[in-house]
Amino acid sequence: MQRQSAARLGPLLLLLLLPLACGKGPSPPRAAEELQVSNRLAGQAARVALHYLNYRLGSPSALRALGQVRKATLKTIPGIGHKYYLQFTTEDYKSSLDVGTCLATVFYLKRKPRPAVNINCTYTKDQKQIREDDYSFYKKMRQQTKPIIGNDIPDSYGNIEPALEPAWALAVAGSSYLMWEKSTENLGYFMAQVKNVKQWITKDDSIDFDYSVVLHEIPTQEMISCHLRVIWTPGHPLKVKYFCSSENQWSESEEGSGTESGSTSGIFNEKEANF
Ligand SMILES: *[C@@H]1O[C@H](CO)[C@@H](O)[C@H](O)[C@H]1NC(C)=O
Repeated sequence: MQRQSAARLGPLLLLLLLPLACGKGPSPPRAAEELQVSNRLAGQAARVALHYLNYRLGSPSALRALGQVRKATLKTIPGIGHKYYLQFTTEDYKSSLDVGTCLATVFYLKRKPRPAVNINCTYTKDQKQIREDDYSFYKKMRQQTKPIIGNDIPDSYGNIEPALEPAWALAVAGSSYLMWEKSTENLGYFMAQVKNVKQWITKDDSIDFDYSVVLHEIPTQEMISCHLRVIWTPGHPLKVKYFCSSENQWSESEEGSGTESGSTSGIFNEKEANF
């Protein structure tokens, strides 16, 4: 009993001593700081991790959106950057059904252009079904003799024409790449609408789409128009090229690598209890 209450007092004593310790040296490294799960920057960092995941998996049938942040810790590394340690639930992008929990770190480095992400997730969606859905979309697109053309997806009522849904999902996966690249600790992005889509009939194994998309920037509420080229073969990384009205040059995903500023190692199929 006594030992327990002493243990409880430990952190309290530390808190009392901390101001004294901090008063001395010139800004010592700050310890990890627990954030409220409702913290805006924690949600923002979790979305960045999911942009990265959605792009890296390159699977239009496996897109995830943020459910709820369960745990968030921020570590400030003076002169280097801010690192978020996160645990959050995810939802299927289309059905909003729960599809598993993720553990992620998102590291905003002062001298690097995009956040470094490491993410591992459990999944509850049937992986075989995902592969089959991806493949049937791919096959349908390969058999297309007249290229798919469409605009305003979703339309002003929020509806997506079923025939255009897979092309829209591929736009979400592709724009996840640029949303990951553009994200900062303070600025986040959602893909609001595909203004138009045009398919390119290719001779090789890939399917190839041109998109104009509108991104919604938060918290500024700005709308940003981007042009996107997405080339995809199931089971391979997406190739993405983009050009946004706010910049004046094309950017391109580096095919197949991607380990230098993030990783999705160990997307494993285990129960959430292991987290
Ligand atoms: C993800 O799993 C890998 C391999 O088990 C591990 O090295 C890494 O730290 C994990 N990442 C996170 C954010 O938990």
